[in-house]
Amino acid sequence: MTVPAVASGGPEGGRARHVAIIMDGNGRWAKKRHLPRAVGHQRGVEAVRKVVRGAEGLGLEVLTLYAFSTENWRRPEEEISDLMGLMKRFILSDLEEMAENNIRLKIIGDYKAFAPDVVELIDNALAHTASNTGTTIAVALNYGSMDEIARAASKAASEGPITPETIAAHLDTADLPPLDLLIRTSGEERLSNFLLWQAAYAELWFTDVLWPDFTAEHLKQAMDAFATRERRYGGR
Ligand code: FPP
Repeated sequence: MTVPAVASGGPEGGRARHVAIIMDGNGRWAKKRHLPRAVGHQRGVEAVRKVVRGAEGLGLEVLTLYAFSTENWRRPEEEISDLMGLMKRFILSDLEEMAENNIRLKIIGDYKAFAPDVVELIDNALAHTASNTGTTIAVALNYGSMDEIARAASKAASEGPITPETIAAHLDTADLPPLDLLIRTSGEERLSNFLLWQAAYAELWFTDVLWPDFTAEHLKQAMDAFATRERRYGGR
């Protein structure tokens, strides 16, 4: 397994190039206020909007967001439908602004399993921003890391020997810089089947802040903390 050729972080004060976030706590945010879960998810989308707007100013190359996991299909139908509706509305309302801000959208995970109207909106958003050169916002949809690794390993096996390099070349993130920093909100401290391979050398940052309360300032705090950490990739 090779370590990233260009490592961020460490005593040289490198800045994080690729940050991923497990956006957790929408339900608890709503419950604390005696509001329906759907309102928590709505406020979660507003947090997404603010953080996406802040990402470019922080010099981020890639922000990867865990929006819908392969396990989220186990949620009640009504909640799944609320989440799909929110994603559709987010694309309709924010695509133009993102495109004007030179943001490139990318999806990781098998989003083609979503309803045809959602897939069409996503395909259109991807095509519309494909040639942009600013921050990449990679949204994980119907994403599960074990599923991703299995898909990548099958493709690698069909072409030749399976090695860490050939698997990595077929991951959904193959065209992205190495993951530097993984953030999880809401006080939970686990990876929940997100970027398991990519997190091998990533720094982890946990906060008790619930996702709807998360702002670009929190993202900056995490990135500042990252810049002070020394990464040794198993060396000394
Ligand atoms: C976790 O909160 C959050 C989710 C499962 C969904 C995340 C989705 C969004 C923030 C909105 C859609 C995203 C985009 C990109 C428009 P939870 O419901 O698990 O909260 P809980 O653990 O407190 O119950």
